[in-house]
Amino acid sequence: MTLRLATAGESHGPALVAILSGLPAGLELDRDAIDGDLRRRQQGYGRSPRQQIEQDAVEVLAGLRHGRTLGTPLALVVRNADHRNWTWGMAPWPPEGEPSGKGTKPVTLPRPGHADLAGVLKYGHEDVRNALERASARHTAVHVAAGAVAKALLATIGLAVAGSVADEEALRAAIDEARAERDTVGGVVEVRATGVPPGLGSYATKDDRLDARLAFALMGIQAVKGVEIGDGFALAELRGSEAHDEIRTDRRRDTNRAGGIEAGVSNGEEIVVRAAMKPLPTLMKPLGSVDLATGEEAAALVERSDVAAVEALAVVAEAAVAWELAVAARDKFGGDAIRDFVAAHASYLERIEWH
Ligand SMILES: Cc1cc2nc3c(=O)[nH]c(=O)nc-3n(C[C@H](O)[C@H](O)[C@H](O)COP(=O)(O)O)c2cc1C
Repeated sequence: MTLRLATAGESHGPALVAILSGLPAGLELDRDAIDGDLRRRQQGYGRSPRQQIEQDAVEVLAGLRHGRTLGTPLALVVRNADHRNWTWGMAPWPPEGEPSGKGTKPVTLPRPGHADLAGVLKYGHEDVRNALERASARHTAVHVAAGAVAKALLATIGLAVAGSVADEEALRAAIDEARAERDTVGGVVEVRATGVPPGLGSYATKDDRLDARLAFALMGIQAVKGVEIGDGFALAELRGSEAHDEIRTDRRRDTNRAGGIEAGVSNGEEIVVRAAMKPLPTLMKPLGSVDLATGEEAAALVERSDVAAVEALAVVAEAAVAWELAVAARDKFGGDAIRDFVAAHASYLERIEWH
């Protein structure tokens, strides 16, 4: 059974939900580790006050008993504390009583760079909120929870995944400047995975290739506009003699320009991927737009927003890479019980004499 992830939830609805299926039974999960990652996602220089309203924590509705997975779908919930201000505005059923709280008036001023315009056109909404609520990156919270579960699975076979901001100092200076000018910035994050055995992924088709799957997963995160594996774009400037990693007699490499993946398959070196994030599109000094109700020129919607979320992206990207590596490891090592999974990994390393 392969690992699968389905999610649901709006930014100001009651909760975000994830269902993870295909996890081996008997995997030990640590609530503090999951909540710790949720908190890491909320921190970072340049975040908005929303992060003080939300104190994310995971609730488990199914699939776990006394801290161990049952081999059945694992249902995770992360509640939106801010929903208390939106009970009328985001009510699932026609709300009773006078409108109160937030979200009571339709939004008609689409923000450039967001799902707002394409979303209302595509789905036939009149209120931009019906598009922006699901498109919001608040949704990344449950992906981070799923990533924490993936990291627990990977840890049983010695894999670790860590995301970071490529240049933290420069980013913080750029955030200070942008904040003073009521503007926003983006940046670059890097994710590294260690302990990856050779042989995850495959070389023929795009849905098997590990590099393609990582790029797909990273590009699936809001605001990511570029992905590179290993030296990525810089490789295009090099000669072949400078661009590849020579193989030693112990089958390891002294360089890692390939970022741990050759021909869509992990080669046993550290996996290194980077993702470029665009500047956040909600601006306190809004760009030009159109009022969809009147057809007149208007400034785009101004809504509480971050100056930057690059540090948060590092955590979300780490979760996305962890999830894809867990899928690839599960595909390779199988296992209905966690012991089968671990044993298959050990036996494979023995066969290829990889230490
Ligand atoms: C962790 C994270 C936090 C984000 N926070 C904001 C935000 O506060 N304000 C904003 O305008 N965009 C934010 N974004 C980006 C938007 O969600 C994203 O740009 C938008 O949904 C359009 O999608 P696209 O950039 O992939 O085209 C965030 C993205 C991430 C990954």
